[in-house]
Amino acid sequence: MASTAEELREEVRRRYADSVKAVTGEGDGCGCGSGSCCADDSAASAAGSAKFGEVLYEAEQRGELPDAAVLASLGCGNPTAVADLREGEVVLDLGSGGGIDVILSAKRVGSTGLAYGLDMTDEMLELARRNVAEAGIDNAIFLKGLIEQIPLPADSVDVVISNCVINLSTDKAAVLSEIARVLRPGGRVGVSDVVAEDHLTAEQRGERGSYVGCIAGALSKSEYIAGLEAAGFEEVSIEFTHEVADGMHGAIVKAIKTEAPEREGIPVIQPAPKAGCC
Ligand SMILES: C[S@@+](CC[C@H](N)C(=O)[O-])C[C@H]1O[C@@H](n2cnc3c(N)ncnc32)[C@H](O)[C@@H]1O
Repeated sequence: MASTAEELREEVRRRYADSVKAVTGEGDGCGCGSGSCCADDSAASAAGSAKFGEVLYEAEQRGELPDAAVLASLGCGNPTAVADLREGEVVLDLGSGGGIDVILSAKRVGSTGLAYGLDMTDEMLELARRNVAEAGIDNAIFLKGLIEQIPLPADSVDVVISNCVINLSTDKAAVLSEIARVLRPGGRVGVSDVVAEDHLTAEQRGERGSYVGCIAGALSKSEYIAGLEAAGFEEVSIEFTHEVADGMHGAIVKAIKTEAPEREGIPVIQPAPKAGCC
């Protein structure tokens, strides 16, 4: 069992590299059958099979995607349905996996917009690039990296989306402050994630499913709200959509980056007139 954050992250990376093999038929992968690896056996059996993966997308949306992108869907929601993407926007998908939400975002923002996918797993990035090429998309870019250290400049993104990935991070405070850094002031977050009811302790979350299966590492609703507010977000909302394990839910997380975070709470001091000035 992983004991350090590094080891846990490596376990997550291996799990999702294996899941690519399941999708491409090159191996047993994680053995989650339908391709939904973001649920281990206990969570999947407790919650039923329609809680993770492609079933969370409208049939119409699935119809416009390459089969491999649909099969590789491992999320717990459909962030593109809640992020209200507009023509010309720059979108960043954290933990983009096989690319399903990057493809949908790229179509929404059109040729004047751009969709970035960020993932740490080479096998996922390779699959996503193939899927994007098959979909005929030319306004998507995949980046290799960690969601805790986003390889993009400050204030460069309009919308951050993510589908069932933040719960897998071993440093969620870093993820939330990185999201705040890359979003332009007034930019927004529209994320699907697993979120625990507030009464569940960390130990009780761990009893309901594994870390790599997107259950044990989930934040509670209050922890998520406090983390986003501490990172400089306002209008934070978390809506439970479907139960994935006892007291744990697929949820839609929304927030807006405050327009002027550096001025919050700091009195504006007028500069003293320079000597000799009029
Ligand atoms: C549960 S899958 C979700 C994939 C995709 N969002 C979807 O809905 O199908 C998690 C993905 O996040 C990536 N991931 C997990 N932790 C990460 C981290 N700390 N930094 C970057 N990528 C990460 C994994 O490699 C994997 O592709």
